[in-house]
Amino acid sequence: MSIMIITQGKDISPWVKALQETRPDLNVQVYPDIRDDSDITFALSWNHPLGAFQGFPNLKCIASMGAGVDHILKDPDLPETAVVTRVVDENLTRDMATFTLAAALNYMRGLTEYKALQHRHAWERREYKRVGEVTIGVMGLGVLGAHVAKVFSRAGFRVNGWARSARLLDGVTVYTGQNELNTFLAQANILICLLPLTKETAGILNKATFARLPKGAYLINVARGEHLVEEDLLEAIETGHLAGASLDVFREEPLPAAHPFWRHPNIDVTPHIASVTHPASVVGQILENYDRLRKEESLLHVVSRQRGY
Ligand SMILES: NC(=O)c1ccc[n+]([C@@H]2O[C@H](COP(=O)([O-])OP(=O)(O)OC[C@H]3O[C@@H](n4cnc5c(N)ncnc54)[C@H](OP(=O)(O)O)[C@@H]3O)[C@@H](O)[C@H]2O)c1
Repeated sequence: MSIMIITQGKDISPWVKALQETRPDLNVQVYPDIRDDSDITFALSWNHPLGAFQGFPNLKCIASMGAGVDHILKDPDLPETAVVTRVVDENLTRDMATFTLAAALNYMRGLTEYKALQHRHAWERREYKRVGEVTIGVMGLGVLGAHVAKVFSRAGFRVNGWARSARLLDGVTVYTGQNELNTFLAQANILICLLPLTKETAGILNKATFARLPKGAYLINVARGEHLVEEDLLEAIETGHLAGASLDVFREEPLPAAHPFWRHPNIDVTPHIASVTHPASVVGQILENYDRLRKEESLLHVVSRQRGY
């Protein structure tokens, strides 16, 4: 039984190092240099070449290197019997809260604008938004969204959340399903997307959604690029209905040099860094699952392949 690391466009050396430091006798192989395909039972994966898992007849677990699994589940040739797991990690959760809080406060206090004014040596005082004037709407109340919602609530914001199923969250008013989506949207001055990418959520940040937001609302998308209909965002900002957006994820990553988002004054672009998995922080749970698999025990953080998250 061996672990295979399978990725595209990712530096895997910190992963190999963290795994080998934690378990020096572990047999780690890196795709495509695999000695014996039939020996691979566990794959640690990020953005694998589609169809690649077909070559491993004894593969039983595909573990995402991050919180999202859309990059795995989009593969039409995923082995039927493989269990898919993801990372759930306190550091990842905390980092998402600090990023979204920073993005919201940056917008409310106009810090990006002041940087531009500084370049012109312009001493111009602007109006700003106060915590008590802003309602936060968090789409997705899973591991990340629920924590983000709580952190904003503790910072004094009025916070609403939207998910599929009802739950009680301290300091957060929870809306559920399509029936309550419009009521949720109508109050969100800052909309934060933390949904998983599924058939139901793809393209959800679109013209109709933006039209439901209050005039002057601001979007923070830290989920996936495919949630956003890019031209609808540009149009909503153009017409003045939306104030702007902070975007961390894109349909094409890296964002192409000619993309209009790069030079848009009301859009802040970051390179998918809202919350980055730190290998040393998560190899423990990955190896725990590897051991559980060998002992034929149930695994941690299994996702529903049918539901898509
Ligand atoms: N930018 C970054 O650096 C970064 C880092 C990590 C993760 N992410 C993204 O963040 C996403 C969320 O992560 P997570 O760990 O919080 O996910 P999660 O724990 O799986 O939670 C997903 C949440 O979305 C809700 N949801 C799913 N489908 C829905 C639908 N059709 N309508 C309404 N609500 C729906 C779920 O509702 P129920 O609770 O009712 O099921 C749940 O609350 C990941 O999938 C990934 O794409 C981005």
